[in-house]
Amino acid sequence: MIVTIDGPAGAGKSTAARRLAERLGFLFLDTGAMYRAVTWHCQQRGIPLTDPNAVEQAARSMRLELVGHRVLVDGHDVSAEIRSREVTQESRYVAANNAVRAFLVELQRQFAEGRDVVTEGRDQGTVAFPHAECKFFLVADPRERALRRQRELAGKGQQIALEELLEQQTQRDERDSQREFGTMRAAADARVVDTSRLTLDEVVDHLEQVVRDGRA
Ligand code: C5P
Repeated sequence: MIVTIDGPAGAGKSTAARRLAERLGFLFLDTGAMYRAVTWHCQQRGIPLTDPNAVEQAARSMRLELVGHRVLVDGHDVSAEIRSREVTQESRYVAANNAVRAFLVELQRQFAEGRDVVTEGRDQGTVAFPHAECKFFLVADPRERALRRQRELAGKGQQIALEELLEQQTQRDERDSQREFGTMRAAADARVVDTSRLTLDEVVDHLEQVVRDGRA
């Protein structure tokens, strides 16, 4: 069974998707980590992110593995590195690269083949798994999303002004919802869940209930 969870950054997708997968005993696929890993790899090798062919070649030649919570590139654990500010900011070039998107979608389908998976990203219910049995699209108020991000960064010792985070978030949302392929949008058959006024546990409870009801 495939459960897809899409939506903008800060809507609480990642943690909710991970916890949902644990509760259901499903594998978890963090597709944002794949775009981040390609970005990190190119940055390390000095491959210009603005050169689509070079980035595609790099993506095809690197060995990308998602093992539990860890992300490995050519056997090297990059789980922490791919969350850096530099990678977050520059991943937009990889996300806008149609050839890389097609390749990563292929890897995502291979990963899910014959398995029970909760997969999380922007285009999972629309492009990667249009026939998924259960689809969610998580949303939240922009201000609430930026506040969550601010708290998350404060937990890592980084103090960033809310206005700055709001502005970055707006830019990312615009890019995600305007790109040609893999556009961030809810699939017609996705359930839209507004997490603004829900705790993480409430979100996971709700998602789990829907999945279990659907399977019953
Ligand atoms: O979700 P996360 O912040 O880790 O995503 C990293 C980057 O990958 C973002 O630029 C996002 O737009 C992109 N992405 C994507 N398609 C996905 C998942 C993430 O384009 N399925």
